[in-house]
Amino acid sequence: MELDKVIKIRRSVRQFENKEVKMEDILACLEAARLAPSACNGQPTHFVILNDKKIKEDFANAVFAGRFLPCRFFKNAPVLVAVCVKKNANLTVKAGQKIVGRPFYLTDQAIAAEHFVLKATDLGLGTCWVGWFSAKKAQEFLKTPRGVEVHTIIALGYPKEKLKQTEHSRKKLEEIYSFNSYK
Ligand SMILES: Cc1cc2nc3c(=O)[nH]c(=O)nc-3n(C[C@H](O)[C@H](O)[C@H](O)COP(=O)(O)O)c2cc1C
Repeated sequence: MELDKVIKIRRSVRQFENKEVKMEDILACLEAARLAPSACNGQPTHFVILNDKKIKEDFANAVFAGRFLPCRFFKNAPVLVAVCVKKNANLTVKAGQKIVGRPFYLTDQAIAAEHFVLKATDLGLGTCWVGWFSAKKAQEFLKTPRGVEVHTIIALGYPKEKLKQTEHSRKKLEEIYSFNSYK
């Protein structure tokens, strides 16, 4: 699919067909994520694919609890992808983040996740970025090592309603840019 078309048809999908996602499609999304850029090429992102029904549902029950209950419905997505990220992938990243005082790793995981999402869209899959979950519970459930955090979950599956180009609710183009100074 043309990149423009992929960008235009992608939208957050919250209702999925009850159909298994093909392994080759999951691997194609992971390959797209693998090619994402990262600070100092640290490649800090690790994707945990939760496609076993029982494990996925146990995970959803754990991470979408209490104040995160409104997102429990994502349990019905055929696959949940926990996007895990190492805070300090290597010494250069560690030093760099300290010097600039900004967490490059958050940017890294977001780029990798969006590569995954765009490839999924290209394959006719539906996705939703999910941020409303307990990161603590996710990390406990996945037994992530120290220094590894979960900031993003991607819900993945074949959309109930086929992806098509619809108007996105967005700011006008001229509202999102300026040249040469902020204002
Ligand atoms: C970082 C991030 C976190 C999000 N968290 C949630 C979430 O917890 N639950 C949800 O239903 N949608 C979530 N979304 C989806 C947004 O609501 C959605 O992208 C936005 O409304 C624009 O709609 P669209 O994706 O259909 O274009 C999240 C999106 C991003 C980028």
